[in-house]
Amino acid sequence: MFFKLRVIIEKDYSAMSRKAAEIIAKEIRSKPQAVLGLATGSTPLGVYQELIRMHETGNLDFSAVRTFNLDEYYRLRPDHPESYHSFMFKNLFEKINVKPENVSIPDGMATDIGSFCESYEERIKEAGGIDIQLLGIGRDGHIGFNEPGSSLGSRTRLKTLTEETIRDNARFFGKESDVPHFAVTMGVGTILGAKKLLMLASGGGKARAVRDAIEGPVSAQVTASVLQLHPNVFVILDEEAASMLSRSDYYIYVEKMAEKFEAEAGT
Ligand code: GLP
Repeated sequence: MFFKLRVIIEKDYSAMSRKAAEIIAKEIRSKPQAVLGLATGSTPLGVYQELIRMHETGNLDFSAVRTFNLDEYYRLRPDHPESYHSFMFKNLFEKINVKPENVSIPDGMATDIGSFCESYEERIKEAGGIDIQLLGIGRDGHIGFNEPGSSLGSRTRLKTLTEETIRDNARFFGKESDVPHFAVTMGVGTILGAKKLLMLASGGGKARAVRDAIEGPVSAQVTASVLQLHPNVFVILDEEAASMLSRSDYYIYVEKMAEKFEAEAGT
């Protein structure tokens, strides 16, 4: 297999979002029943807006697409305005033609979380696995809610959030004391099982996490660093998020060459 980890540096948030949406759209066009792994947070909002725009202009059909979200807060009702259920319906699902029965989001309200997590893994498997998994990155380098110290082989399970993550997410809840302390999240191993990974980061606040993930050692202390082990990865950054990378000139050069090859090959 041809392994690749492409680091694409775009000028700003809009360009980053457009590039990521193009990659997802290409996936859906080549496989209308594609299985998408989706993420929440402020970072993917621009991608979702772009996908909605493509759908509205008649260029993208989600009618056979299936989706699996990375995570959900534990014991936050799905109709809570800050639940990831609410986030996904408000920012994407209500505005495209995905079928609600084809949408899966972890159930933080499940009475038996352990068996729910097993069934979530099972459902992903039955769908044929995730074709492309969209990811953001936390300031401590987490993906999904796989906080530092998570097992790199972990599957969907309940995780305790770090104080930093709780503080970061307080901006959505109004006050820190309202942020749930636990979440149900796909594990690092679950994420590694996706056929393609697409990680996005924007802004200087993410620069250190991005550097540690891409150029640091693979470590459970920075769970995004497992991207270095995956066979098919796109990391799309804006210039600020890329500002601490030591090899950005090389990544930019590689991308120029890749574009040239793709144009010549007509892909
Ligand atoms: C939460 C989510 C992650 C997301 C991260 C960063 O922790 N569970 O999936 O990547 O926040 O969020 P933002 O994009 O808002 O910076």
